[in-house]
Amino acid sequence: MNLTNQQFRLANRPTGLPDRDTWELTEEAVPDPGDGELVVEALYVSLDPAMRTWLNEGESYVPPVGVGEVMRALGVGQVIASRDASFEEGDHVTGLVGVQRYAVVPAKRVVKVDDSLVPLTCHLNALGIPGMTAYFGLLEIGHPNAGETVVVSAAAGAVGSLAGQIARIKGCRAIGIAGGEEKCRLLTGEYGFDAAIDYKTADVSRELRRLCPDGIDVFFDNVGGAILEAALRNLARGARIVICGAVSQYNERSMAGPRNYMNLLVKRARMEGFVIFDYADRYAEAGRELAGWIASGQLISREHVVAGLETFPETLLMLYRGENIGKLVLGVGAD
Ligand SMILES: NC(=O)c1ccc[n+]([C@@H]2O[C@H](COP(=O)([O-])OP(=O)(O)OC[C@H]3O[C@@H](n4cnc5c(N)ncnc54)[C@H](OP(=O)(O)O)[C@@H]3O)[C@@H](O)[C@H]2O)c1
Repeated sequence: MNLTNQQFRLANRPTGLPDRDTWELTEEAVPDPGDGELVVEALYVSLDPAMRTWLNEGESYVPPVGVGEVMRALGVGQVIASRDASFEEGDHVTGLVGVQRYAVVPAKRVVKVDDSLVPLTCHLNALGIPGMTAYFGLLEIGHPNAGETVVVSAAAGAVGSLAGQIARIKGCRAIGIAGGEEKCRLLTGEYGFDAAIDYKTADVSRELRRLCPDGIDVFFDNVGGAILEAALRNLARGARIVICGAVSQYNERSMAGPRNYMNLLVKRARMEGFVIFDYADRYAEAGRELAGWIASGQLISREHVVAGLETFPETLLMLYRGENIGKLVLGVGAD
């Protein structure tokens, strides 16, 4: 192909936050695609909190990234060479492209995306995994009923902002927990949450008690740790806690708490985790409904794009420092 690839590979398994030593930036020639393969030029690479968990050895819902391997990542790109009849050069596709400029991928592992109605980055957000996660996590695990109170943590992030907006669409009262005044203003302004709690300055448990005098019916948790414990203290009878993630714990050596899980018993409540991949055969159904809400202006998909493949090590850390507002995406290619 006469193209040179640049790839971020896992060099060393980190302890705590990943740093420059975690990664090696390598270069190699892009091979010609084999039968049934495509060469995809990455345009946008999705940065996800769970990437940190993929760097740990041990059993999880996906195998760990191996030392020496290209870092796993979803992305959106453009087909620049095709050896598969269903794809042409110029098609936009999404799939596991990795943190690199070019990916040689089996055609059956990517799907075409349409950028005529929404920006390409939306396919990594509301019409991608965050959208699916918010949709199925809230509706299938949280089972919200109109009029109920739904509390969301990391509410100004990709999944959280979508989960809160979907709760509102379903007629629920939505309360978001996020870090900082700017994010809280965004929640009650642009995203239409009924109230917001700045966990960096407020006593979260006290604020939850004030804002949810009858208790929380659904807690959609992205954070874990102290925020999960505060929510557990304020449950309504029959509450559902959706364990979507625990970003506050991903860089810790061991997971914290929750200490007060006996409130599940007292409140006849349920806490359930899920992995979005289990809903893959229903993505199209969710995608149609989410696209409809975007088109009608009921759902905002906000992406935070940072340009430059070479910024990957620092840009990834923004997720754990709360420096992203909306879905964090690495802009890799010229679009
Ligand atoms: N179950 C599944 O299948 C599935 C699929 C996709 C994603 N997820 C999970 O969904 C969650 C959200 O992912 P996302 O992609 O939408 O990321 P995101 O919310 O856009 O970004 C992460 C946010 O987490 C917050 N955060 C980071 N460290 C924190 C801490 N110590 N305490 C409290 N908040 C902290 C920050 O917001 P603040 O500024 O507000 O602190 C940050 O902006 C993650 O837990 C992820 O693993 C689960």
